[in-house]
Amino acid sequence: MPNAGSKKIAVITGAGISAESGLATFRDSGGLWEGYDIGQVATPEAWRKDPQTVLEFYNLRRKQASEAQPNSAHLALAELEHHFDVQIITQNVDDLHEKAGSKNVLHLHGELKKARSVKNQELIIDIGAKPIRMGDTAEDGGQLRPHVVWFGEMVPMIEPAAIQVSQADILVVIGTSLVVYPAAGLVEYAPAGIPKYIVDPSEPELMNWNDWVHIKEKAGVGAPKLKDLILKEHQING
Ligand code: APR
Repeated sequence: MPNAGSKKIAVITGAGISAESGLATFRDSGGLWEGYDIGQVATPEAWRKDPQTVLEFYNLRRKQASEAQPNSAHLALAELEHHFDVQIITQNVDDLHEKAGSKNVLHLHGELKKARSVKNQELIIDIGAKPIRMGDTAEDGGQLRPHVVWFGEMVPMIEPAAIQVSQADILVVIGTSLVVYPAAGLVEYAPAGIPKYIVDPSEPELMNWNDWVHIKEKAGVGAPKLKDLILKEHQING
């Protein structure tokens, strides 16, 4: 078997990869998520004005995500790890990549199963599927808030993510509209000339995708196809 194990595949994923696991995407639902206006609950202003509603929104999402199972797209990416050095960079706050078995998962926008103190963003605790209530505090006495990146907040993981993309031999994008910055800018860090693939049932917008291979399928079908294609190109029997 050729030694592809040292080749690095960077995979940028978004809400579309979890759609077939029953978790709604953002823009396909017109910015409304289970009746909540995302812009009204995923911002620091919303937290200041109405923290109760913000917590309810994330408690609901946390419960849904904890009950969701990875689909064949998450599983195909985990399988690629048997042959390649795979780095997942996800905008998703669910843990379906981890549930599928992926080892290297960087969460750009945080994680639903974690909470942190409002007084110290480094004081992060695991809460699993449990809800956060007003009055639940971290050990420094600060109210717990979801460990997610809201619109208008810094994205501390963007720099390590950009480094990972800059070291990639192959770049893959699955199920993201790539309209939200700074995540959308990550593809610019890819070394010139590397193979680039996108799996999305819609036509990608707003970017020059000419040098990308577009697998125009839902992730559940498209990602396993992509896995087979990459294995074939490296003469590996999956
Ligand atoms: N398989 C693959 N792709 C799909 C599927 C599917 N089954 N269903 C939808 N898609 C595609 C859509 O065509 C679209 O390109 O997934 C993408 C979803 O885009 P968005 O809803 O914009 O989600 P995402 O790109 O992850 O959003 C980025 O915005 O709201 C914020 O912080 C939030 O992380 C999120 C960020």
